[in-house]
Amino acid sequence: MKTAIYPGSFDPVTNGHIDIIRRASKMVDRLVIGVLNNSAKSPLFSVEERVNMLIKVTEDIPGVEVTHFTGLLVDFADSVNARIIVRGLRAVSDFEYELQWAQTNRLVRPNLDTMFLVTDQNYSYLSSSTVRELAKYHGDISKFVPPYVEQKVLNKF
Ligand code: PNS
Repeated sequence: MKTAIYPGSFDPVTNGHIDIIRRASKMVDRLVIGVLNNSAKSPLFSVEERVNMLIKVTEDIPGVEVTHFTGLLVDFADSVNARIIVRGLRAVSDFEYELQWAQTNRLVRPNLDTMFLVTDQNYSYLSSSTVRELAKYHGDISKFVPPYVEQKVLNKF
């Protein structure tokens, strides 16, 4: 069984993430979405809220599981028997950061590969922080997140 992980902060999950999840899930038997539980960051949503939102918005996509992790990505990959890390690439500005992580992770686990999917151009400008910032100042986020997530974000402000 071919398993991949799709790790991230997902604070909150956006339509860009969901597009990557849909496409990646067709390439593997099992796609495990890993929400980073990073105590150093102060996220808008708790890890439980982020996991629950992801479960809800991916319920129609076969082969997808959602969980959370702490610590190293490579250890999370081991824990679910994954040999592929999926990441979305939006623009050149993402590339350097992603390359650094991908190469470091490969040095630590040579049998673990990072697979980049190029983001759909409709979402190339989209990030969770954009969504949070827009919502904070009462901007319309309905084009960027599913209605379920939009409601959860609006409830926060
Ligand atoms: O959505 P994000 O915030 O860009 O996701 C970043 C993430 C979760 C992929 C990255 O922060 C990560 O892998 N964190 C886990 C700690 C780790 O393994 N770091 C790499 C060490 S070489």
